[in-house]
Amino acid sequence: MATINSNYRKLSAGYLFPEIGRRTREFQKHNPDARLMRLGIGNTTEPLTPTIIEGLYTGAKKLADVKTYTGYGDEQGNTALREALAAFYGARGVSVSPDDIFVSDGAKPDSSNIQSIFGPSDIIAVQDPAYPVYVDSNVIAGRAGQYDQEQSKYTGLVYMDCSEENGFFPDVPDQKVDVLYLCSPNNPTGAVADRRQLKSFVDYARRNKAVIIFDASYSEYISDPDLPRSIYEIEGADECSIEINSFSKFAGFTGVRLGWSIVPGKLTVEDSKPGELRNMWFRRQTTFFNGASNIVQDGGLAVLSPAGLAECQEVISYYMENARIIRSGLQSIGLTVYGGDNAPYLWLKTPGSMTSWEFFDKLLQETWVIGTPGSGFGPGGEGYFRLSAFGHREDIEAAVSQIVTRLQL
Ligand code: MLT
Repeated sequence: MATINSNYRKLSAGYLFPEIGRRTREFQKHNPDARLMRLGIGNTTEPLTPTIIEGLYTGAKKLADVKTYTGYGDEQGNTALREALAAFYGARGVSVSPDDIFVSDGAKPDSSNIQSIFGPSDIIAVQDPAYPVYVDSNVIAGRAGQYDQEQSKYTGLVYMDCSEENGFFPDVPDQKVDVLYLCSPNNPTGAVADRRQLKSFVDYARRNKAVIIFDASYSEYISDPDLPRSIYEIEGADECSIEINSFSKFAGFTGVRLGWSIVPGKLTVEDSKPGELRNMWFRRQTTFFNGASNIVQDGGLAVLSPAGLAECQEVISYYMENARIIRSGLQSIGLTVYGGDNAPYLWLKTPGSMTSWEFFDKLLQETWVIGTPGSGFGPGGEGYFRLSAFGHREDIEAAVSQIVTRLQL
């Protein structure tokens, strides 16, 4: 007799973005002529750059010739790509070994799967609000108790408060936890941790034999040279941190799919020897995953070339100009806005005492703009709302103009 994994029943609701999709379809059904403007999911909109397209062609053409054809690739990802990634870190003064890099099909799968190498009763700490994948993957794996409707929290998980008071970056927990998820630049708040803040977490993790899962998916949006783009910029982080990153927002690979994780050989936890966690992730990936597409990995190699990096920076600047336009429009009507300086997300306070979902409905009804309710990212997001800066300039301008002229405050 088969039974289900009943942990799925604990999940509080549908995944955030499908729920936004459901409400949007409902609205569109009753307002078929409304031209919707999507600033909800952080989905890239601008085409891949010429150098990247050339890289993808090269990858495709290699498959047409018996001399260059490849089937399954190197297990951790193509060696040339891992070496290029190590050089990418090296150029920023961060030493990462290609042996510690694992190429994948994106940061979302890696951030949900990485928990599988940790003990089933490890205590998990998440930023509140946080990208929902960190919580949901641990709920499914059985590391959380029931969902407490009143508190909008799972029992058994530790929520690290991110609020206006602490600039949306948490203090280290005042209890012992085992695995901590940090995302900087942050999704959803757009806040970026500084060196002192990251150091406090690295110190905490080393003291407690805990592990930091550092999601750096938006690192390329940092333009302030004083802000760290990798946790490995902090001394000792390679003993206690795994870093996850992606080509999605960096190079427009949201649909192409390519990412990487770094599991340092030096990383240890309470009961592990150096190298053991890295070997376990290798074992996990080679058992459950057959590697990223070889064509796409050639595209990734093109991203990391000097021309590719320069072209990607131009696209990132375009999105960051969108962020500036959104912020100045919202501020012009008196809304309080955070983020959007070194991150493609803006985090605004809902006006009056509106809940995040009430504001979602109001914005949709009055302005036809779709955003993301902050409460979908955890209880700490209640009373906030996220707007994404990914979009064509004319759509961003139209959305901001609708908000400025039509939103009734
Ligand atoms: C978001 O909107 O939070 C992200 O695009 C989701 C993701 O990258 O999976």
